[in-house]
Amino acid sequence: MEKLLEVKGLKINFETQGGLVQAVRGIDFDLSAGETLAIVGESGSGKSVTSKAVMGLLASNGSIAEGTILYGGRDITAMKEREFEHLRGKDIAMIFQDPMTSLNPCMTIGKQISESMIKHQKLGRKEADQRTIELMRLVEIKDAEKRYKQYPHQFSGGMRQRIVTAAALACNPRILICDEPTTALDVTIQAQIIDLIKDLQKKLKIGIIFITHDLGVVANVADRVAVMENGRIVELIWRQIAPEHWVLLTQRELDSLAAGK
Ligand SMILES: Nc1ncnc2c1ncn2[C@@H]1O[C@H](COP(=O)(O)OP(=O)(O)OP(=O)(O)O)[C@@H](O)[C@H]1O
Ligand SMILES: [Mg+2]
Repeated sequence: MEKLLEVKGLKINFETQGGLVQAVRGIDFDLSAGETLAIVGESGSGKSVTSKAVMGLLASNGSIAEGTILYGGRDITAMKEREFEHLRGKDIAMIFQDPMTSLNPCMTIGKQISESMIKHQKLGRKEADQRTIELMRLVEIKDAEKRYKQYPHQFSGGMRQRIVTAAALACNPRILICDEPTTALDVTIQAQIIDLIKDLQKKLKIGIIFITHDLGVVANVADRVAVMENGRIVELIWRQIAPEHWVLLTQRELDSLAAGK
């Protein structure tokens, strides 16, 4: 499979009043088309910071101290914000943990999905509206035409998460980053959202990075799992041979593989 993303030797620091925080301390991973990489690990281990770096959305006190993030062979860490704007949302999209923070409460749901298509795909209003309604149907929102004109507070938590998913998919991204996309939802809705994402992945061959604490979810969605601890990937686990067959590699084994031993 085609490699979509290659992260090499990535180190991310934050400057704080208490001194320098080394949030990510040299990690390597890659992602292929159609593959799901799960990232798990304790709170504060650097999962969100890593994914934000891939989206070019690090907080202003943060910076990439070392390493490269290659997307389609181009190093996105060297890109200017203007260039990144063309990628973000279009080639690489992200679903954040809390859908309310990524939805604008003062804008109709339909507009929030269609705006990015008008911006990135240069669609006209009418076409964008049509595609928005198709997407809303795809994520199984009933009465899409009516719902289109409503505001986020008129939607349930699960529906909002579907909308955020639809918005993320609006521009047919090649990479979708899901940062704990289901933690705010109850178990049945969680399962539905995950099925939905898996379905869409099959159809669209998206590469997915799925951050979660839930090992049940991991077993359900992941082709590979990276375990993070204190800013490092300490283990990489992947399915091989058969879906139910997992192989566990420790950091030392990984290092010796990388060294070609
Ligand atoms: N803007 C910031 N300024 C200073 N430190 C930060 C900033 N953002 C993140 N960090 C630090 O970076 C480290 C990694 O944070 P990150 O959000 O990636 O954790 P996480 O693995 O996503 O945890 P969780 O599972 O709780 O979401 C933490 O120590 C955190 O305090
Ligand atoms: Mg996080």
